[in-house]
Amino acid sequence: MDPKWTLSLLAAILHTVASAPESVFALEGNSVTLIMQRHNNMDTDDASWVFNQSCDVVRYYPHHNKRRQVRITDCYKGRVEFHRTTFSLELTNPQKNDSGLYKGEINGDGMKAVSEYRLSVLGESPCKHPTY
Ligand SMILES: *[C@@H]1O[C@H](CO)[C@@H](O)[C@H](O)[C@H]1NC(C)=O
Ligand SMILES: *[C@@H]1O[C@H](CO)[C@@H](O)[C@H](O)[C@H]1NC(C)=O
Repeated sequence: MDPKWTLSLLAAILHTVASAPESVFALEGNSVTLIMQRHNNMDTDDASWVFNQSCDVVRYYPHHNKRRQVRITDCYKGRVEFHRTTFSLELTNPQKNDSGLYKGEINGDGMKAVSEYRLSVLGESPCKHPTY
């Protein structure tokens, strides 16, 4: 293979794998939704959201029976919504320590789609009292 072509192919692969996560900002207590990127018409085997590369938030298995399709990790129960049609993850009451890297992944048809977000949850500014 022509070395120039090999290099550009490698660059293209690195680009899809190592593209920087998108930054997302949320206010403490204000729900925020992370959008899952997907390939059109991909038949999904499983989808997942993982926090800080180590902690599962939710896993979704559309081909399992209904009661076992969506599995939310205990510490996220009541704090997140997983949307089955879009695979988006909504944090309904984010706290400062929910800040970090969220990686969404879909596998299906031998393909993988990955979405990465760096979430920053900001507290209220101590010197300003918002009026509603
Ligand atoms: C985040 O902070 C809350 C209290 O503000 C605490 O209950 C929760 O366990 C903390 N979560 C983590 C992952 O440290
Ligand atoms: C998640 O990772 C970020 C850095 O990427 C770190 O600041 C934060 O403390 C981590 N959060 C938890 C709960 O481990």
